[in-house]
Amino acid sequence: MANDGQEKPLAPKRAIQPFPITVDEELSIELRKQRKGFRKCTICCGIITAILLIFAVIMLILGFTVLHVKNPKINMNSVSIMGFDPPNVTTNLTVVADVSVKNTNVAAFKFEKSNSSLLYHGTVVGLGDIPRGVAKARRTLRLNVTFDITAAKIGGKQEFQSDLGTGKLPFQSYTKINGRVKILNIIKRKVTVTMNCSIAVNVTNGAIVDQDCKKRVLI
Ligand SMILES: *[C@@H]1O[C@H](CO)[C@@H](O)[C@H](O)[C@H]1NC(C)=O
Ligand SMILES: *[C@@H]1O[C@H](CO)[C@@H](O)[C@H](O)[C@H]1NC(C)=O
Ligand SMILES: *[C@@H]1O[C@H](CO)[C@@H](O)[C@H](O)[C@H]1NC(C)=O
Ligand SMILES: *[C@@H]1O[C@H](CO)[C@@H](O)[C@H](O)[C@H]1NC(C)=O
Ligand SMILES: *[C@@H]1O[C@H](CO)[C@@H](O)[C@H](O)[C@H]1NC(C)=O
Ligand SMILES: *[C@@H]1O[C@H](CO)[C@@H](O)[C@H](O)[C@H]1NC(C)=O
Repeated sequence: MANDGQEKPLAPKRAIQPFPITVDEELSIELRKQRKGFRKCTICCGIITAILLIFAVIMLILGFTVLHVKNPKINMNSVSIMGFDPPNVTTNLTVVADVSVKNTNVAAFKFEKSNSSLLYHGTVVGLGDIPRGVAKARRTLRLNVTFDITAAKIGGKQEFQSDLGTGKLPFQSYTKINGRVKILNIIKRKVTVTMNCSIAVNVTNGAIVDQDCKKRVLI
């Protein structure tokens, strides 16, 4: 009971007095805060700009090197003729063209099934199949394009006799390959390579005496 009297209820604490500051001080604090913020922003902006700049430079370098799609090169390395029996040309001929597709890209060049046609004085005398395929990155793909030629189609041409007289038969081949290069799934480009060749064949032995190819890349 005695305790009761001793314990006085605690006096309620006085509310914390607001820090007494003058308007001047308040302004200067505000300014300092703003300046700090401004400095922070400047540093931040600088870093972002630098990162963007580095990124842009990297993309530019990549764009000119790795990501730059280079045109695949097609080439006719050799042509061989089988079953040639001049001057009669009674048996059907088989012409095999050794074609290479050079791909200098860092990605594969995939091409669709194509064909190559062989012409004699404007008449298609043979068609060669080019199966769909892939020229791997930085690789050269070799393929044999085989033409089966019907002898009658050559012998039946008016110019045949005069060609026999000159000792050579002029052929033309037209090859077109449709494909595309896909780099990192980002850059995809359709590429069509065409090659037209003029080939002269020695009538006596079936050897290739002249070969001239014109190539073009269509994008
Ligand atoms: C070409 O035909 C003639 C007759 O038409 C024949 O005597 C000759 O053996 C044939 N030559 C060849 C290489 O087939
Ligand atoms: C040449 O080929 C044609 C068509 O493919 C055929 O009709 C003909 O019998 C063949 N000739 C010879 C000599 O094999
Ligand atoms: C050859 O290929 C072209 C497309 O490249 C196609 O339109 C044509 O039908 C083909 N010809 C043959 C005989 O396969
Ligand atoms: C093409 O043909 C030649 C001779 O027949 C052969 O040695 C070569 O391996 C062939 N190349 C391909 C890619 O089939
Ligand atoms: C064809 O080959 C024969 C024998 O190799 C040669 O005597 C002749 O000059 C050649 N003809 C042409 C047009 O090159
Ligand atoms: C190849 O020949 C075809 C048909 O004559 C023509 O349209 C094309 O432009 C030629 N291509 C080249 C590379 O000369």
